[in-house]
Amino acid sequence: MTTPLCETRDLWVSANGKEILRGVDLIVDKGEWHALMGPNGAGKSTLAKVLMGDPTYTVTRGKVFFEGEDITRLPSNDRARRGMFLSFQHPEQIPGVKVVNFMQIAMSHRQNIDLSMFEVRLALMEKMRELNIDNSFMDRHLNVGFSGGERKRHEILQMSLLSPHLVILDETDSGLDVDALRVVSDGITAFQKDSPQTGGIIITHYKRILQHIRPTHVHVLVEGRIIASGGFELAAQIDTHGFERYLASERVSP
Ligand SMILES: Nc1ncnc2c1ncn2[C@@H]1O[C@H](COP(=O)(O)OP(=O)(O)OP(=O)(O)O)[C@@H](O)[C@H]1O
Ligand SMILES: [Mg+2]
Repeated sequence: MTTPLCETRDLWVSANGKEILRGVDLIVDKGEWHALMGPNGAGKSTLAKVLMGDPTYTVTRGKVFFEGEDITRLPSNDRARRGMFLSFQHPEQIPGVKVVNFMQIAMSHRQNIDLSMFEVRLALMEKMRELNIDNSFMDRHLNVGFSGGERKRHEILQMSLLSPHLVILDETDSGLDVDALRVVSDGITAFQKDSPQTGGIIITHYKRILQHIRPTHVHVLVEGRIIASGGFELAAQIDTHGFERYLASERVSP
């Protein structure tokens, strides 16, 4: 048996006295893309943030493994250096920090070398051309005044430049118009092709983006537990019927 890329084992998580995750078991292997679906408030973003080591959340039981190592207590910057990448559902605005400055720090941290501004600008320019992002974008301040579409493209840009081993995308498709969705989906599929060893967890409410990304697995998270897993057909079922049947089965389960 090979070591999974990432694994949560009976993961229980609380924040501010509220129990949010209640025994999540998830295994993501290299090259697999797992879609995580579920109603609002189910705990999807919490799982994403806990995987990334957000200190707001307390792991009360269970463990998180990455590339065979127990990282349950590892700080988030060490996780980033090891190749975990999360695009947030609600990214922070950071006035005073330009996209290019941020990428210089993030890329240098990830590669463990000091990249020059020139190297970073060149790398950014090439990717931005692919993603249809204007050159002036790299001198804008991080997430300040970004439109929904710009924010999402920016996430794909970061992902493509940081060569992650595990990518977690939290609602990258929300609020995008059809053209922006196409650019973002194309960006992700190009990334999948370039990085066949990289695994992904993609949180979404919609089948639409999954039609492009074609997840190998689909999971339904309800009230802090994965209550159904399957393939793409599960996403299609949810799209047609909603979560009602899963909510009902959750209520009758012990
Ligand atoms: N830091 C926190 N302190 C207290 N409660 C929290 C905290 N973070 C999340 N929660 C609660 O945990 C639950 C799960 O939140 P989470 O953001 O993980 O849901 P989600 O599945 O991502 O929902 P959505 O689909 O709306 O994005 C919610 O009830 C939320 O209010
Ligand atoms: Mg969320």
